[in-house]
Amino acid sequence: MFDVESVRKDFPILQTQAHGRPLVYLDNSATMQVPECVLDRVAEHYRTSNANVHRGMHYLAHASTDALEKARRTVAAFVGAPDERGVVFTRGTTDGLNMAARGLAHLVQPGDRVVVSVMEHHSNFVPWQQLCFARRAEFCVVGLDENGDVDLGELARVLAGGAPSKGGFAPSAERPAGPGPVRIVAMTGCSNVLGAVLPARKVADMAHAAGALFVLDGAQIMRHGVVDMAALGCDLLALSGHKMGAGTGIGALCGTMEALELLEPRDFGGEMVDQVVPERTTWEELPLRLEAGTPNYVGAIALARACDYLTELGREDVAAYEDELVAHALEALSEVEGLQVLASPAKRAGLVSFAIDGVHPLDLCTMADARGVALRSGHNCAQPVLDWYGLTSVARLSPAFYNTHEEISYAAEQVRKISALLRSAR
Ligand code: ALA
Repeated sequence: MFDVESVRKDFPILQTQAHGRPLVYLDNSATMQVPECVLDRVAEHYRTSNANVHRGMHYLAHASTDALEKARRTVAAFVGAPDERGVVFTRGTTDGLNMAARGLAHLVQPGDRVVVSVMEHHSNFVPWQQLCFARRAEFCVVGLDENGDVDLGELARVLAGGAPSKGGFAPSAERPAGPGPVRIVAMTGCSNVLGAVLPARKVADMAHAAGALFVLDGAQIMRHGVVDMAALGCDLLALSGHKMGAGTGIGALCGTMEALELLEPRDFGGEMVDQVVPERTTWEELPLRLEAGTPNYVGAIALARACDYLTELGREDVAAYEDELVAHALEALSEVEGLQVLASPAKRAGLVSFAIDGVHPLDLCTMADARGVALRSGHNCAQPVLDWYGLTSVARLSPAFYNTHEEISYAAEQVRKISALLRSAR
């Protein structure tokens, strides 16, 4: 059995009193708390091994570089990257996806297609949209089926040249007649609004059969079981450390060497170059070519420690326990009058978003906060999917493996009481 009481000791922040009440932190899709072992590892590096990496020849420079490269190997193993050089450290998923979109822009010709789904976070929507505008390519947005999963029938049609339910050609005189080839399919592994888990292997196979690269936004999925990019058929996978207990400002863009080799560098500066002369600059090998400037090496070391922590806990056990909490939340929230859960996907992970008739999510979450319960409200950086459901705002409850069933019951009870209060005051 998953020993949540023991796990909670790794997160002293969970003992916080919020507005005089015990904190019930259920905003883990926004950010996860950082365990002691990661905090200790960061302090240890600064205390014993800190120096810039890949530059100096002195003792600490070697120690720091070794720690960074060990972290890269750990992350590569954690995500199933085919090669340890296939991990590029980034600031987070947003940074990784922007790096991918900018780096792959040269592959996209006028009239070509780039495909996303309507449930993308803005981080996996806007970079591809802007790429399409800049390259005069077609930005294709695939809709959802009645359960809130990506409509794979529509995806198949779009990959075969059919019209998407959303999106269209950017105005261009250069556009050839008829739909162009699909260059990239970029989708989230798990919607941060619906909790819908993408059948990633299936989508990867469909993308590859159409001759496209498959990019997975891993922000929300990394904590939910083993995400093995080779098994899933990802060409590129972007992830964020702060969704996995590593703290902010670190992430990774992982890829096959073939896919990463296609990326043109977005950022220029120190250590990403081979030779610099006034006439030209040549690039360093991967992954350094894509890591301009001093990298966040302490962040990378923290990310590796967070990966190890999840491995030590058992990634499948973590995911199974979180699934239990989510199932509990769905059941408890079903007792709230007028509450509608967004989507009933084939596989849900990590969160429940809901709307309550006559209750504004902002009011609900503000009042829940006064009772110690941290939820999130708003469009959650995913306006297209809220628009798909005819909404502008939802409330979201997102547990992590350190939450308890008692906390879920308490939170659902507060949602019930607050919405009853707000509805009676209408
Ligand atoms: N992407 C994060 C969320 O869904 C910030 O809350």
